[in-house]
Amino acid sequence: MNPLVVDTNRLQRELDDLALITESEPPVVTRVLFSESDLRGRAFVKSLCRQAGLVLREDAVGNIFARWEGTDKNLPAVATGSHIDAIPNAGKYDGVVGVLGALEAIRALRAASFQPKRSIELIVFTSEEPTRFGIGCLGSRLLGGVLSLERAAALRDRDGKDLEFWRAEGGCTGSLDSVKLPKDCYAAFVELHIEQGPILEAENLDIGVVEKIAAPSTLRLQLTGVGGHAGATLMPGRRDALLAGAEIALAVEQAATTTGSPDTVGTTGVFRIEPGAVNSVPCRAWLEIDLRDTLVKSRDAALVQIEAAVKEICTRRKIEFTMERLNVDPPAICDAKVVATAEGVAKKLGYSVKRMVSRAYHDSLFMAQVCPTTMIFIPCYQGYSHRPDEFSSPEQIEKGVRVLAETFAELANR
Ligand code: GLV
Ligand code: MN
Ligand code: MN
Repeated sequence: MNPLVVDTNRLQRELDDLALITESEPPVVTRVLFSESDLRGRAFVKSLCRQAGLVLREDAVGNIFARWEGTDKNLPAVATGSHIDAIPNAGKYDGVVGVLGALEAIRALRAASFQPKRSIELIVFTSEEPTRFGIGCLGSRLLGGVLSLERAAALRDRDGKDLEFWRAEGGCTGSLDSVKLPKDCYAAFVELHIEQGPILEAENLDIGVVEKIAAPSTLRLQLTGVGGHAGATLMPGRRDALLAGAEIALAVEQAATTTGSPDTVGTTGVFRIEPGAVNSVPCRAWLEIDLRDTLVKSRDAALVQIEAAVKEICTRRKIEFTMERLNVDPPAICDAKVVATAEGVAKKLGYSVKRMVSRAYHDSLFMAQVCPTTMIFIPCYQGYSHRPDEFSSPEQIEKGVRVLAETFAELANR
């Protein structure tokens, strides 16, 4: 193989161009699953993949596979990828660095006349973010066979629209049961991602190699109280759905801060009320609660505590409620050999490297159930993520792309 040339200017241009495809006013990035901007973003990435000479396939839930055929078609491929959907009020690097950066890694390998024995596949996962349906990693869950078709069919967005509706909007065809990947279809999966935490930057490190991904869970609640005139309904006997929700949000904080594990984090990230009029008692509230830990035991203890608090608060306040566990996932343990490969490559390139835990979840959480997996992290400014001022420098991204490319050069010929 010739020396690897990463075209950082091209990559930065593409990152900038994709960031302009957004439902919000730039620099804010919002691309919710199969919205008009998500579809335009997907078209943009597919066109770049085609220009790079990759062969495209899309599955029934819209996962995109862009393949560079290896010389031995009988060997399982090696895969990389991430997501381009973005939560409301996001930045331009989360997920996107793992898609456009991986594409740049592939282009650099091709330009260096590298000949992969195994095919190399770039996957753009559908809806890593939970914005549409409340559940994250929709595409990779279905690839891993972790989400049953019944549960997938039952998913609803806040307007009551189901996955079938959105699949049609996204132009997806075929039956969902065709999405699950066969065993042994990939020899390895490596995802490049910004750290989304402050450690690499604080320790002045170039690269993180992920050994474990924290266990996420999500609760969705609907609270129904009794509305009425804000002036005429006296305080005794009110059944205010917002106040029950407010107590629940505090109970989430209480549960997350008392498990004894510093890694328990609990967030009530969705809290909507009806009717949303200043002179009307809130009669309905919708909450979505995100709860995670690297230790399942602590996460589960907090989950049970929150569910008990919901029952107690709603009973005391005479609020009817429905509560659903949207997902309760185990952590992912990354593959020791693939971790060692990525770490060895980073060291060989002269980069400082640290093994770490991912507190954010990623499609790798579910790809780890399909094949040996790890993630390559690069630093981001102050650890900011899921906000518009998320930032990784061109130099930091280039190092991540190099580590990914060289890791693939090893894995694809192993
Ligand atoms: C992924 O976006 C996460 O919330 O960890
Ligand atoms: Mn994200
Ligand atoms: Mn992400």
